[in-house]
Amino acid sequence: MNYIKLAKEYGTPLYVYDGERIRNQYRTLQKAIPYKKLRILYAMKANYNLHILQILKQEGAGIDAVSVGDILMAKKAGFEIKDILFTANKITDTEMYEAQELGVLFNIGSLSRLEKYGAAYPGSNVCIRLNPDVVAGAHEFIKTGGESTKFGILLQDIDEVVRICSTHKLRVVGIHEHTGSGIPETVKMMQGIQNILEVVTKDRFPHLEFMDFGGGFKVAYKPTEDQKNYAKFGDTVTKLFTSFCESYGKDLEMYFEPGKYLVAESGSLIVEVTTLKQNRSKRIAGVNSGFAQLIRPMFYQAYHHITNLSNDNSKEVYDIVGNICESGDCFAVDRPIHKISEGDLLRIHTAGAYCYSMGSRYNLRAMPTELVIDNNQCFVKKRNTNLELIDSIISEY
Ligand code: LLP
Repeated sequence: MNYIKLAKEYGTPLYVYDGERIRNQYRTLQKAIPYKKLRILYAMKANYNLHILQILKQEGAGIDAVSVGDILMAKKAGFEIKDILFTANKITDTEMYEAQELGVLFNIGSLSRLEKYGAAYPGSNVCIRLNPDVVAGAHEFIKTGGESTKFGILLQDIDEVVRICSTHKLRVVGIHEHTGSGIPETVKMMQGIQNILEVVTKDRFPHLEFMDFGGGFKVAYKPTEDQKNYAKFGDTVTKLFTSFCESYGKDLEMYFEPGKYLVAESGSLIVEVTTLKQNRSKRIAGVNSGFAQLIRPMFYQAYHHITNLSNDNSKEVYDIVGNICESGDCFAVDRPIHKISEGDLLRIHTAGAYCYSMGSRYNLRAMPTELVIDNNQCFVKKRNTNLELIDSIISEY
């Protein structure tokens, strides 16, 4: 990928995604899990770029949506409503009506919402989100299992689920769990799955069509990290689920919902160094982007590799900081990088997942242009200029 050329043509900051990489990740995961009725739902909260959605649709993915906005965006990309699962977390009644109107299958993770959904739409199909009771994930904020998180219904409340569903004649066609994001230990993923399978019986849920074991597949953010191989996990989960299906008496579909694994490595944020500063012994390189455009380092202390595209001379140690008016707005601290001059272009790696999609208008700058390079084509989602953004904000008042 010629990032310098792209930056010249489209300006910076600039998000660039490699479509081929996304396709490869999809195929690798599919191959790693040899279960015959496997479905991969893309967790589009990771990156809702239309062209990325279309690539994953071409590969055969469905969608894990978390808002009505997600559902509408997925529809715009060409997904059929039957290929979308709506994980309804802390939704309002209005959101429930809107999503039901669209005809999507709900994945419900609280007893109170299940009760409200059942009362509003008796006789419907639903999926139930259970809490796997395993705590795992790359950072405290992205662990979703265990009793101290807000997600899913505790396993001990399973009979209450059965009772509510029977009162409202809801047909439970799916059971779901999601343990966390960037999970380093596959044994914890397996443990979550096992915990769920222990409580799911034909007696309780006679109408199952699928079980969904969420996302959480890890990618390598540091160049020294190995890419995790999920083949062993895939074999183990396939054996476990096949034997579960035998005792259940039906070949159920098995879903996973990866976000990060599919798109993280495809993306880069290209930024330009605007200001170099020597603070006593500290070298600080300031760039024309900040945490409003890529928040992971600040929010989760996440490591994103950074390279200098303009210079490959000897390395110096830098803090790479952003243009937001907060001291924490920092992409890297004490990072060895090839010698930086003002005007150099830096590449922030592994920026395909939860980077653009977590962007904000903080400090009133527009989000970067995004490019998706796929099959020798370049799909452009052009940024507003900062002035266009301001015009649109001013006109909201
Ligand atoms: N399914 C459910 C129900 C989820 O809540 C999530 C992520 C996924 C699937 C996809 O997880 P993944 O495969 O991407 O790990 N912003 C954070 C990650 C937040 C994940 C939220 N839920 C980050 O940048 O690390």
